[in-house]
Amino acid sequence: MNNSKKNAGEYAATLVKDGMIVGLGTGSTVAYFLDELSRRIKYEKLSIIGVTTSTKTAERAQELGIPIRDIDSVLKIDLTIDGADEVDCYMNGIKGGGAAFLMEKIVAKYSKRVVWIIDEQKLHKTLGQFSLPVEVVPFGNGQLIHELTQHHLYPKLRLNTQKQPIVTDLGHYIVDLDLKQIDQPYELAQYLDSQIGVVEHGLFLDIADEVIIGQDDGYRVMNK
Ligand code: A5P
Repeated sequence: MNNSKKNAGEYAATLVKDGMIVGLGTGSTVAYFLDELSRRIKYEKLSIIGVTTSTKTAERAQELGIPIRDIDSVLKIDLTIDGADEVDCYMNGIKGGGAAFLMEKIVAKYSKRVVWIIDEQKLHKTLGQFSLPVEVVPFGNGQLIHELTQHHLYPKLRLNTQKQPIVTDLGHYIVDLDLKQIDQPYELAQYLDSQIGVVEHGLFLDIADEVIIGQDDGYRVMNK
């Protein structure tokens, strides 16, 4: 068990109030949040609706008895709780280690408040130590990878254990950019947004409203 992730996830569940529509992120930290949310639904008779960000989270929510609805059947998401792979001091982040960032970004976009739950190891001065995932359409991915290589972005197609490209929930491939340090995240985001074949990238800039940093014996909160 990871105490830091658990502390962050369990605290995040206390932010959920009765009647809320809640975005449910993806990942191992969110797993603790889902467990605690399900406990509150059962024992406190909390009434909420979840909007999920991946097949994995949808399956887990169903197992735990968390009611879920399709994103297009709700008006606005009140609060989204999600993990992140790396966060800087401006609360910008990299997401997508679990390949769910496209749905995560869409859910975040339509959320009134976005809270990330992470552990201390993911907090860095600048982003880039974690490879930046880019979701791309399968057609022409080789050409695009060549283009990204020419642009010194060190792309690598993400493969599964059978050495086949991993396919996201929405049918795309993932290309990871091994950048080490991203000095100009906004410029990079703009460049990636302009590439044909790129569906979305894992740079989440100005999206999080709050970051909960789990620690061994508790948590601390980072606000704007
Ligand atoms: C999924 O695509 C990611 O964005 C996750 O939110 C991120 O990888 C955090 O995962 P962990 O909580 O498992 O570290």
